[in-house]
Formats: sequence, C-alpha cells, structure tokens
Amino acid sequence: MPQKDKDNSWFALGETPYNAELCSNGPIYLIGFMGAGKSTLGRLLAEHLGYRFIDTDFFIENRFRKKVSELFATEGEERFRKKERVIIEELSGFEHTVISTGGGMPVFNNNLCEVMLTSGTVIYLQYTAQELATRLEVCKRTRPKVAHLSGSELQEYVTRELSWRHPIYTQAHLTFFCDWQGCSLPEMELLSPLIRALNSLRK
Ligand code: S3P
Repeated sequence: MPQKDKDNSWFALGETPYNAELCSNGPIYLIGFMGAGKSTLGRLLAEHLGYRFIDTDFFIENRFRKKVSELFATEGEERFRKKERVIIEELSGFEHTVISTGGGMPVFNNNLCEVMLTSGTVIYLQYTAQELATRLEVCKRTRPKVAHLSGSELQEYVTRELSWRHPIYTQAHLTFFCDWQGCSLPEMELLSPLIRALNSLRK
C-alpha cells in the first residue's frame, strides 16, 4: 500500500474505474477507516471553507436517539447499514457542507458509487493498517467493531478489514496520504496540504 507517490506528493487522483463526474457544488465527503481523523480534519476543513460540518455517526445518533454502539447491539449491523444509506441519501443534496462519514459508509450497499461519487467530492484519508491500529488503540471504546480488541487482535482486524475496504476507498476522487514516513501528524498540519489537494481537484 503506498504512503506517498513517487514525487512524494500528499495525494493521488482516484482510481475510480468509471467516469464519475465531479459534482463540485455538492458536499465534500471525507472517507476512510475508523481512527483516520475524518471528524477532526473535517471540522477544520469546514471551518476554513466557511462550510457546515456534519459527522454521519453523530447525525445518526441524533436522528435515532441512540448511540452507534447501542444501534449495533440492539438492532444489529445490517439495520445500522440501512440507516446509513437513508442518511447519506438525505445529506447528499447539501451544499457548502463537509461530511465525515462512518468508516463503513462508503463500503456497504454501494453507497460510494451510487450516492457519494455522483453527488459531491470524495476524499479518502489514507493511513497504513499499522498506524490505524495504533491510533485506534486509544479511541476504540465507542466503536463497537473494535472496542473489545487489543494488541495483535486489533492489528489483525484492521489489516484484514482494510484489505477489502482499501480498494473501495481508493475509488474516491482523491486519496490523501495522511501519514508522514509512517507517523501520524497533528490534524492541524494536514489541513494546508489537504486544501491544496482539494483545490487542484476542483479548479
Ligand atoms: C464503523 C465506523 C464507525 C461507525 C461504526 C462502524 C466501521 O465510524 O460508523 O462504529 O464499520 O468502520 P468511524 O469511522 O467514524 O469511527
């Protein structure tokens, strides 16, 4: 899995296999694995652009008045995924909005191709599996799929899950390489290169 391209660039254009037209009026979607900092970076980006910010997990929790972990426990993952689909369809019509999506949103029910790529600009925040596992160790508590895992179990889960999700995530309009030589940088330091990447895509 690449970390930076051969020019040591921060980003690469998408590997989308079809001609997804860039819909520059629609939302800017940040996608990626759990722990990739989508919400933190999304909030910073929205602030910079003067856009509204929406986190889909938070939006779902408000709409259904239950925590994501409760929805998983009481209704199961499949019903949670159906709710995600309803919500992303609803949000896809928003303008001047940055949306950070739950890590599974783009990879289930064909949401990425059917809803997101055709309604806005999609950016994949990419980290290596190892870095994601390290980051998740400290913030896994609220995430039902990983809360019970630690150490090598967590590392194995992230590696396994990322191996099928990554090829879907890379269909985003743009892949943004978040880790610098295998290390995390503070999200604040990612903001400027992210804005440059976005501008190169939207001009
Ligand atoms: C999930 C990611 C979570 C949340 C749920 C499932 C996933 O969102 O939607 O726990 O399957 O990747 P974050 O990516 O914001 O943690």
